[in-house]
Amino acid sequence: MTDLSDCFRPGEAWLDDRGVAINAHGPGLLFHEGTYYWFGEHKIEGRAGNSAHVGVHVYSSQDLYSWKDEGIALAVSDDPAHDLVRGCIIERPKVVYNRSTRRFVMWFHHEPKDRGYNGSRSGVAVADTPTGPFRYLGNFRPNAGVWPENTTTEQRRELNAEEQARLAALELPGGPLPYYPKQILFRRDFAGGQMARDMTVFVDDDSTAYHLYSSEANGTLHISQLSDDYERPAGKYVRVFPGGFHEAPALMKWRGRYFLFSSGCTGWAPNAGRLSVADSIWGPWEELGNPCLGPGSLITNTFGAQSAFVLPVAGRNDAFIFIADRWRPENAIDGRYVWLPIQFMNDVPVIAWQDRWSLDFFDQQTFRTKL
Ligand code: DGJ
Repeated sequence: MTDLSDCFRPGEAWLDDRGVAINAHGPGLLFHEGTYYWFGEHKIEGRAGNSAHVGVHVYSSQDLYSWKDEGIALAVSDDPAHDLVRGCIIERPKVVYNRSTRRFVMWFHHEPKDRGYNGSRSGVAVADTPTGPFRYLGNFRPNAGVWPENTTTEQRRELNAEEQARLAALELPGGPLPYYPKQILFRRDFAGGQMARDMTVFVDDDSTAYHLYSSEANGTLHISQLSDDYERPAGKYVRVFPGGFHEAPALMKWRGRYFLFSSGCTGWAPNAGRLSVADSIWGPWEELGNPCLGPGSLITNTFGAQSAFVLPVAGRNDAFIFIADRWRPENAIDGRYVWLPIQFMNDVPVIAWQDRWSLDFFDQQTFRTKL
């Protein structure tokens, strides 16, 4: 085990203030009043650790290197009738602070126990302090009864019986397929709400928050505005890259442009990272390609990891950290964190491997290379 008191060592074991490996996977970070908070899935040993047996763990830090264990922010329940019963799925928790309500709002991907990933639901919990405990508000499929903004009048129709029958016969396991129906699933889910799996939450400069989630059996991303209190969808969303199969969304904004990191859909196995850009969060979005720089085979699988979050470093211009998970589905608790500095080349964020690095990296001027 390595002491990481003054640097980041991507992929190596990372110990907390008690010398225990940080247990907060699929993370989301929050900077609030001078302190960073790291929220993530608390995993247990073995394959059982791929579902939730403890809850969402939170740590705090002043310097991003040393992390204090602040305990379980959102706990699973022992009540078999509770949505968050031990053994359900709680993934990719993200916490944002709402200035008006002064509440911390946690969003997460939720799957009911023993139902695989078919539930595709979003959970919401709130707290008055960043470390919680968070109070569970409920879960749902977002945007029930709302048509996406970027659809035509012709598309705004619920499925007829024939379309429903055709769709019911298809197997849609969550990865790319030649017969994936690109323009059908959001219509099927109009009444009951849209499927929502991998997700993030992003707060814009004007305090408007957005929920980004893999929808339509993972085939299409949705970008959905949140209500002013951040606790539910506002009722406005767009579909992005229908049939593109993006997971693991992580959004950053730099010089007025939105950059979206994501992955392909290959379960726990890593695949090539993806980067997309837009001038407005509502699009149009353009795919730029793989943001990872070589040399080496690691760039074809995002350094063995999958994106989870982009952290703007407080008090520094142009300083962002790409945060990703190296999943270990056979022994989930041993999953590792890959934190790498984002560099800008020709005004586009890119990521290169570093065995070891510190925040001084952002003092170097060369990272802003522009042709
Ligand atoms: C990849 C996702 O990014 C993870 O959060 C998790 O849902 C796994 N798939 C499950 O296979």
